[in-house]
Amino acid sequence: MSQVFEPNREFSRDARIKNMCEFKELRLQAEEDFEGYWDKMAKEKIDWFEPYDTVLDESNAPFYKWFNGGKLNVTHQCLGRHLKTRKNKAAIIWEGEDGSKRIITYLQLYYRVNRLANLLKNKFNIKKGDRVVLYLPMIPEAAFAMLACAKIGAIHSIVFGGFSADALRDRVQDAQAKLVITADGAFRRGKPYMLKPVVDEALKEGCECCSKVLIVQRNFEDIDYVPGRDYVYNEMIMNESQHCDPEPMDAEDPLFLLYTSGSTGKPKGVQHSSAGYILWAQYTMEHVFDVKENDTFWCTADVGWITGHTYIVYGPLAMGATTIMYEGVPTYPDVGRWWKMIEEHRVNQFYTAPTAIRLLHKLGQDEPAKHDLSSLKVLGTVGEPINPDAWMWYYNEIGGGKCSIVDTWWQTETGGHMITPLPGATPIKPGSATFPLPGIMAEIIDEDGNPTPKGEKGFLCITKPWPSMIRTIWGDPDRFVKSYFGDCKKDGKPVYFSGDGAMYDDDGYIIITGRTDDVINVSGHRLGTAEIEAVLGHHVNVAEVAVVGKPDAIKGECIFAYIVLKGEDTIGEEIEMIQELNKLITKEIGNIAKLDGILFVPGLPKTRSGKIMRRILRSIAKSEAITQDTSTLEDPSVVTTIEKLFNR
Ligand code: PRX
Repeated sequence: MSQVFEPNREFSRDARIKNMCEFKELRLQAEEDFEGYWDKMAKEKIDWFEPYDTVLDESNAPFYKWFNGGKLNVTHQCLGRHLKTRKNKAAIIWEGEDGSKRIITYLQLYYRVNRLANLLKNKFNIKKGDRVVLYLPMIPEAAFAMLACAKIGAIHSIVFGGFSADALRDRVQDAQAKLVITADGAFRRGKPYMLKPVVDEALKEGCECCSKVLIVQRNFEDIDYVPGRDYVYNEMIMNESQHCDPEPMDAEDPLFLLYTSGSTGKPKGVQHSSAGYILWAQYTMEHVFDVKENDTFWCTADVGWITGHTYIVYGPLAMGATTIMYEGVPTYPDVGRWWKMIEEHRVNQFYTAPTAIRLLHKLGQDEPAKHDLSSLKVLGTVGEPINPDAWMWYYNEIGGGKCSIVDTWWQTETGGHMITPLPGATPIKPGSATFPLPGIMAEIIDEDGNPTPKGEKGFLCITKPWPSMIRTIWGDPDRFVKSYFGDCKKDGKPVYFSGDGAMYDDDGYIIITGRTDDVINVSGHRLGTAEIEAVLGHHVNVAEVAVVGKPDAIKGECIFAYIVLKGEDTIGEEIEMIQELNKLITKEIGNIAKLDGILFVPGLPKTRSGKIMRRILRSIAKSEAITQDTSTLEDPSVVTTIEKLFNR
């Protein structure tokens, strides 16, 4: 059994949830009166314009409705309601990679959001329900744009800046977006990089829905302007009023779409609601990070991912906290950058990904000691399992042995934390996300739907709905049902399948064991193998391809492709092929999906019915012994050949 670390006593005394008794009491309350539990929370936390009629409508499961009939606006929750008590408090502290700083108070943020909301309405004719794609760097205007959409009821869909023009086009088309908001570019590793040319390329053809582009000037590099289509934010915003009434939204009106990868097909537009999402964003901020009025909270994610949505923008602002936003990379100008920022801003809660911790540990083991990190109270991780080595370094060197680490398990689809320690209550163990939050009914089950015993891996499922859950896949409700809800039922209701494997340890702690489907997790970013395979399959010389995740010391997993080339003798062309295939990936998906390894093989292990046995390929990539029965393969000898080529 791994070591257990008790919460810091002094911290617990002031924490919202002070011990395991309080935690268990909440869990009991949620179990005994499920709707009553959420009702109380929704009434306490949300400043409703009009009250809701029902807490949970399950009549069309799994298309659940939470707080139906209620009216609100998420920006009133995040900004308007704070003006009475926090108008001069810093809402966003932004730091550019070059060290420049902007502090935006709640009142200033409120005005900026109103101006942009007016601009969207008046000049771009954006109305409630319209989709707006944001392709923006980590600048405050990204938050302004999200909130401006929310203010007028438009649905934002952020596309991470690392995605290519093709990927951006797919998302604009799928969402049928009317407008793209982008920037000329930003700064990374000390140099300007560009975004606007990618938008130009994306909109070249097939995006008739989108006739306008709004550009934030950030790096002031030269860009081309398309007359009648392109507009400059920095100029136009000056002419708009700083007052704008919030659109009253139904609790279930969509707040945003966020595209994510699945095990099959193209990325899915995960649709989130207004009330349920903001409730959970705020609740988890308060309870999991235990943020207090004077605290400074820093989540290092990019706003292009769900972590950035919930824990840079919506969660911190909903609770009236101060949130830090940083433009650049953690290693610029040196590997002490983040620790220097924690010291300077007196950061109290710090939330990052295991891949970043591993990188900074490897490159700058002694760096943290050069900084005063004593302001830290809670440390968080997200996105992938954290290995004990990285956990211990984080705990001792960053947290000084006094901060709880909240290893938060959740997904784009869950909207916010699901399984996580509470810093003042939960005794923590390296590598365990510990227990589900009160009100979250998580179970680990086997293939027949039975709970797995301790120590045995199973499928991680959620057996009851929760307020911030995905509502549907944009434009594809059937895929929503098929992707997440199998035949398994609990109390007559469909069970949500997370796609992750998990198990209980001897003490009943949950350990996430990784994906059970064909999704790989590279540096905490989700990528579908099917998506990458489809791109590689476009190359004229590729006959067949199978992509798997391969363990990587820093990234967690990296992308490994087995490729069968067309033609008998293509050995001489392999080097060229590697370059060409990576070019193709960069063009159609983006740099984040670059291949880390390619093995050219004469054939793939297939069953007699033609199905590729990926498990075997995964084992080879992991250098594991093959334990699967290969006798059912069409040609078992292909496995030995691949193994030999791999070990060559
Ligand atoms: O496999 C799990 C992993 O990240 C997946 C969700 O990815 P995404 O939707 O991009 O959201 C990432 C940020 C919430 C999950 O299915 N994952 C997330 N958190 C953890 C994790 N794996 C292990 N431990 C975690 N704490």
